[in-house]
Amino acid sequence: MSKEWTTTNIPGLSGKTMIVTGGNSGLGYESVKAFALKGAKVILACRNLEKGIKAKSEMLDSNPEGDIDVMKLDLADLASVRLFVEEYKQNNSRLDVLLNNAGIMATPYFKTKDGFEAQLGTNHLGHFALTGLLMDMIKSTPGSRVVNVSSMAHKSGKMDFNDLMFEKDRKFKPMRAYGQSKLANLLFTYELQRYFEANNIDSIAVAAHPGGSNTRLASHLEEKPVMRMLSPVVRGMMQSAAMGALPQIRAAVDPDVKGGEYYGPKGFAEMFGSPVLVKSIPAAHNIDDAKRFWSVSEELTGVSI
Ligand SMILES: NC(=O)c1ccc[n+]([C@@H]2O[C@H](COP(=O)([O-])OP(=O)(O)OC[C@H]3O[C@@H](n4cnc5c(N)ncnc54)[C@H](OP(=O)(O)O)[C@@H]3O)[C@@H](O)[C@H]2O)c1
Repeated sequence: MSKEWTTTNIPGLSGKTMIVTGGNSGLGYESVKAFALKGAKVILACRNLEKGIKAKSEMLDSNPEGDIDVMKLDLADLASVRLFVEEYKQNNSRLDVLLNNAGIMATPYFKTKDGFEAQLGTNHLGHFALTGLLMDMIKSTPGSRVVNVSSMAHKSGKMDFNDLMFEKDRKFKPMRAYGQSKLANLLFTYELQRYFEANNIDSIAVAAHPGGSNTRLASHLEEKPVMRMLSPVVRGMMQSAAMGALPQIRAAVDPDVKGGEYYGPKGFAEMFGSPVLVKSIPAAHNIDDAKRFWSVSEELTGVSI
């Protein structure tokens, strides 16, 4: 086997049940495809069922045996998160991997159904609620994992607890809100790992980031004329979605992965390459912030973990 970690390192996954949020596109799509090829039952969770069904049918073309269930989940609507969990629990008795992958980046200011700034609401709060509502099943599945997808953009992130939603003094900038949401993903991952350890739960929390990967994520940035012009060059420099998905796939299935680890590409500036252990900034490891943010997330979502 090659020294670089690739999809050939994925162990057999039959008997495992895995949820991938945003499984219809980009990194989520590649993750669902890879897990299904190794025999897992995969829930392709998506906000648009038509897109999910199309993605599933493409995957079945190359893997007719693939066990893929498409289910509706809109992370920007807590009622949808609750409905998803109810339906999931009716049809499943275990949850081996929850891959919190879905995300939006650099969107203009708008609010989720529940009144949260959209990027924090979708990228973190929706996933926090989803994880919390599934916690009984995560706990009762031995060796289960929660994987949160962050970004290099977490490095510019700042948690402003007085103005998390950019409604007061803080000037809203699309990438500022994205950075906050991706730092939030890491604070949540590390606190969740501490929670598992403190309560002797046989589950781990792991984070991953894909470097720069050619997906639809940057479409809002490309609405600006300059960015539209530069887009073919920038996209040409990015790695494929299949390559970018490897850190989160590794975090989800590599038996050597430990709780609290963070995986990303090993190439220059962590922008491309095989998945390896990487580091996040000290702010992501700030325990006071993590505890405070956990409580705020519980309050905002109404979901206690
Ligand atoms: N691509 C990169 O270079 C890069 C870099 C750093 C981090 N990331 C992270 O990687 C993750 C995956 O992004 P991607 O690059 O694969 O982008 P993508 O191709 O745009 O996929 C994003 C997925 O999230 C889904 N989604 C968005 N809002 C949602 C909502 N409210 N409810 C449920 N699903 C929702 C999208 O659904 P629709 O198809 O319906 O829009 C899509 O399936 C994100 O968390 C992103 O922050 C990506």
